[in-house]
Formats: sequence, C-alpha cells, structure tokens
Amino acid sequence: MTKEYKRTLITTALPYTNGPVHIGHLAGVYVPADIYARYLRLAGRPVTMIGGSDEHGVPITLKARKEGVTPQDIVDRYHALIKESFEGLGISFDIYSRTTSKTHHETASEFFRHLYDKGEFIEKTSEQLYDPEAGQFLADRYVTGECPHCHNQGAYGDQCEACGTSLNATDLINPKSTITGATPVLKETKHWYLPLDKWEPTLREWILEGHKEWKTNVYGQCKSWLDMGLQPRAVSRDLSWGVPVPVEGADGKVLYVWFDAPIGYISNTKELLPESWETWWKDPETRVINFIGKDNIVFHCIVFPAMLMAYGDGFQLPDNVPANEFLNLEGDKISTSRNWAVWLHEYLADFPGKQDVLRYVLTANAPETKDNDFTWRDFQARNNNELVAILGNFVNRVIVLTHKYYEGKVPAPGAFEEIDNAAFAEMEDLKKSLTENLETFHFREALKDAMGFARLGNKYLQECEPWKTIKTDPERVHTILYTCAQICASIAVAMEPFMPFMSERLVKMLGLEKISWDMLAGKDLVPAGTTLGQAELLFEKIDDAAIEAQINRLETIKKENAIAAFKPEDTLPEIKLDEFAKVDLRVGTVVSCEAVPKAKKLLKFEINDGTPKLRTIVSGIAQHYNPEDLVGKQVIFIANLAPAKIRGVESQGMILSALNADGSLTVAGPTAKATPGAKVC
Ligand code: 2FM
Ligand code: ZN
Repeated sequence: MTKEYKRTLITTALPYTNGPVHIGHLAGVYVPADIYARYLRLAGRPVTMIGGSDEHGVPITLKARKEGVTPQDIVDRYHALIKESFEGLGISFDIYSRTTSKTHHETASEFFRHLYDKGEFIEKTSEQLYDPEAGQFLADRYVTGECPHCHNQGAYGDQCEACGTSLNATDLINPKSTITGATPVLKETKHWYLPLDKWEPTLREWILEGHKEWKTNVYGQCKSWLDMGLQPRAVSRDLSWGVPVPVEGADGKVLYVWFDAPIGYISNTKELLPESWETWWKDPETRVINFIGKDNIVFHCIVFPAMLMAYGDGFQLPDNVPANEFLNLEGDKISTSRNWAVWLHEYLADFPGKQDVLRYVLTANAPETKDNDFTWRDFQARNNNELVAILGNFVNRVIVLTHKYYEGKVPAPGAFEEIDNAAFAEMEDLKKSLTENLETFHFREALKDAMGFARLGNKYLQECEPWKTIKTDPERVHTILYTCAQICASIAVAMEPFMPFMSERLVKMLGLEKISWDMLAGKDLVPAGTTLGQAELLFEKIDDAAIEAQINRLETIKKENAIAAFKPEDTLPEIKLDEFAKVDLRVGTVVSCEAVPKAKKLLKFEINDGTPKLRTIVSGIAQHYNPEDLVGKQVIFIANLAPAKIRGVESQGMILSALNADGSLTVAGPTAKATPGAKVC
C-alpha cells in the first residue's frame, strides 16, 4: 500500500441464493475477507465489511421451476440459511442484506436510469432464442442441447459442463427449451448495451499501468481480456425475475444479474449507513477492496469499474481485488449440482464448537495462487497435530503450571535473561512479518506467522523446563512463566483474525480486558498479579470415526453421481440365435466359497450343477463379496467354457455378474429358486 487511506470498504462477492454456501465459497472469499476486516479493526483502522445475497439470476428461477415454488420462496429459504451459517462461522459482516431489498431495487434502478439519461448505453435489436409455446425469450440456461464439441446431450446454452467449453445458445445442436421442451425459434428483441470498448483505454491504464501490484492471476486475467479487445455488453434480459428495466417500452425486461449484483455493494452500504454511505464510496480517502473468487474477476475488474466510471460522481474504483483460485474437495471439483461439497450449515451441525478448526484449515490450505484441495484427513491432521498439539498444548501447560506454582497469579518477573529477550525479539519479528503478510493479502503465510507464536512458546517452555528449575532456582520460574503468559496473550491477538472464537476464550482465560494489534509482542500484556482463569482445552482431538463418517458420506454421493451419469456401453455387433445357442448357460447353487490364498481378487466356488460331482469355478469378484455371503445363493454360469488353470486351480466355467455404474459388481442369478443344472435359455 503506497497511500495511507482513512477508511477501508471491504466487499465480499454476493453468493447466489440457489443453494447453501460451501467450503469453496469460504476459502475463496469469506474467510480471507473476514481475516482482513478483523485485522483492520484490531489495528484500530475504520472498516466496513459488506455482504449480502445475490437473489436474481437464472439459476434461482430454474431451481424454483424445478421445485414448483416461486423464486421468492427459493431466495427466502437460502438467504436465511446462508446468513445464519455465516454468523455461525463468525464472519463479521457489518451488514448482510439482499438484492431483493427495496433499497437495492431503488438503487439499481436509479443507477441504470442515470446511465440511460447520460446516453451511456447503446440500444440494439438482435435475434435471440424464443420459446413459442411458453411465449417467452430463453435465457442461455433455459436452453439445452447437444454440445458441438463433445456431443454431450445435456449442454446448456452458455456452457457445456461435460467439456467445460463456453457456448452461445445458438451453437447447440437440437436445442430444446427446458420450460416446455419445444424447439426454440429466433426472434428479435431490444436490449441495452454498455459499450465496454469506450472504457477500454481508461481501464487499460488504470489496471495495467496503475495496479501492477495486483495478484498475478487477477492482473493476468485482466490483461488477457483487455488484449482481446472489449465489446459492448448487454445489461438487460428478457425475464420476469429481477429489477425491472426502468425505461419506457421495456416491459418483460429486467437488469442483467451481473449489472445489478455489484450495485448491491452500494445498496447494502446505503442500507447500513443511510447518512454517510457516500463517504464510503465517493471519498478518495476510502480504499475499496473486493474479495471474490476467480470466476468473478472480469465483472469486478472490467465491467463494474466501467459502470462506475460511466456513472461518474466520484465513485471509487477498487484499489485491490484479491481474487482466489478454486478449492477442490478430495481431488474433485466442488459442485453444487453434483452435491460434491462440504456445506457450511452441515459442518456447523456436525462439528459444533469447531468453527475455528474449519477457518484454520481453509486458511492454511487457501487457494491463493493455485487451485488447492481440501481433504478430511488433512483437516483431522491439522487439528490434531497443529491446533491441539502445538497451540492448545502450550497454552494449557502455561495455565496449569501457573495454577500449580502460583495459584493462578501471574508472577512478577525477575531480570530477563538472554533466552527471554530472544523470545521477545522473535515475537517482534513474527509481528512484523505477520502484519506485512496481512497487509498484502498473503493469509496463508500470515497464519504461519501467527502459529509461529505458539511454536515459539513451546520451544521456549521446553528449553526453560520450569518443572525442573522450580526445584533448583524457584525465583527464575517467575520470569519464565511471566514470559509464557505474555506469549499466550500475543497468541490471542495474533490469532483473532483467523480464529476469533478461540481468541475470545483465551482472552478471558488470561484475564485481558481488550486486545489490539499494538499489544502484539509486548512485554507486559498480562500484568504480574493477574489471576488466570482455569485451564480449558482450547482444542480437542478429532477422532477417526468423525472423519470416516464424512468420507463415507462423500463416497455415497460419488456413487449416486456415477449412477446418475451412467450411460450403458454400446451393444456388441448382432449375432444369430445359433451362435448364442453355443453358449451353455446353467443355474448352480453355491455349496462353498472361499478366498484363493495370495490372490486378492479371486474366490473359489464349489457349485452344485445338478450332477453328483461338484463343479469348481474360480471368479475374480473377491473385492465385491464376502465369500460366506454367497454360500447357498444361486448363480448363473457358463457350463461349456474350456477349463482353465487359475493360480493352480482348474476353473470349470464362468460365473456371470453385472458391472454397475458405481464400479460395484452384482452376481447374476435367478429371481426365484431354480433347479441346479437347469438350462438358462
Ligand atoms: O458468482 C456468484 O456467486 C455471484 N453471485 C457473485 C456476485 S458478486 C457481486 F457482484 F455481487
Ligand atoms: Zn461439451
């Protein structure tokens, strides 16, 4: 930061209310924004953090149609759920409102009207897809058809989710309306376009010359958009859900959701601060920071700034847009439609009181420079090996020892020795690095610095060994435990932006009244004589059962998704009846079944095939069945397959099984009791 600003306005991407929020949203936007806001507050710098729900847009109307309810029902449901779960995680918005609010409708309308009156739009008539049966124009998401690239049959009008290609609805092969199933036709419609090309030189200079300090992913994306050349962009749509276009002759037209949503930042500031909102938007002494995910970069760095420039009147452009990359889950892309996510409201219910653990893990693994992966095993390891074993353990030992030796009263220090001074000096260094990393949005590194205080504490305690010194030099232990209490206080301050719940408990335990960034690394944060509270465990171990429950849940979802996406293999070339008749299929009853030693996949069956002698068959299904579960079952087998030696056992046939979509196997058998040896024809 080159300039000292008077205040900071933090905006956080407004999530769509077509589903709950998940860890991808949290890691990308809300946890980093909250860390930054909390840090600024602790540093005593004026800050306002704006959040809210993005309640317009086609995903919401699609969901409503699917469920047979109104869009208002959908947004009411998810707005309430999202707002409550953000509160549960301690995301400290100063306001969390919604784009269906009266203030927002008025603000967005006025914004459009102002640009319209200034002549900032181009009016253009073009041909767009129209559903003749429903009597309405179709937004891209309302059209599905065959992808011209990968031939997936369920591609949407704006994107094929199978191959990831961006599409125009008119590119689809055999397009169909998702409303009626009718084939859409092209029909003329009028819309308003913001000529981004007009703002290109100004944007180029503002970003490419003026903001070289932006993250490389953000700067690079902006550069490539600008280098491709900007085009006019439609800011209205033919839909009934949204902010109506506030001009004559615009019946049935609403503002494009990406026109109205970022105005939501302004509306929500207005709602929060009706008297002073303009200071937060128009005073050059305000620094605006937009926290977003990488899919929102173009809208925040190009489109919204162009809107603000077109509006004029002193609206401040963002000073930084620290967009993150994406977080994956157990190696796979997070997806709302595939239910491949860890949902915040479910996490809060499954892990009560463990909000900080999630905040910690998401920050330690934040996708700051590249996509990253969340795994439940890593979550468990970070909790058990870092939060419990390092941070919790240090604080606990200090408080327990202070109670043991001094009835919980922090002792007055004697002369500080070299090791004590070195600890305070190291804390100063950590503070410097931590502050620098927070200022520059390097939250992963910042968390490492904050954790450095706990690591330092453990090392100091281990080296000083007060439990031994108490016997040889009890006076010295005063200084050691005094120093430890100061390190604990620094942990409470350094960690507040990251783990506010833990910090609050620690502050209470240490008898501190109020904390601030200035206190960090100080020598007298917890004055001698302060009575410490009883030691409480700040973190508890998370056991394997809790983690396995989460992993099993995901495995079930993976299977369900595989079944939903299953496409049967193409059938083999046709055969004649006499060719089929050559295969002798029979029913058999399993008399015994056992694993083949040293062969993970094989089971050895003894089958009653209706003859006096049992038939031996070796089958590669050991990974799908317990042998004892098959005894007594009936199977269908090929009786005239040439015998083959498998692992030294002669197999006299082949048992038939179905290979299912989720990779499991089902042994084929008659649906009712059949006679062993009966022919299957
Ligand atoms: O990507 C999204 O979830 C959008 N709803 C973000 C909007 S950000 C802002 F413009 F409101
Ligand atoms: Zn495709």
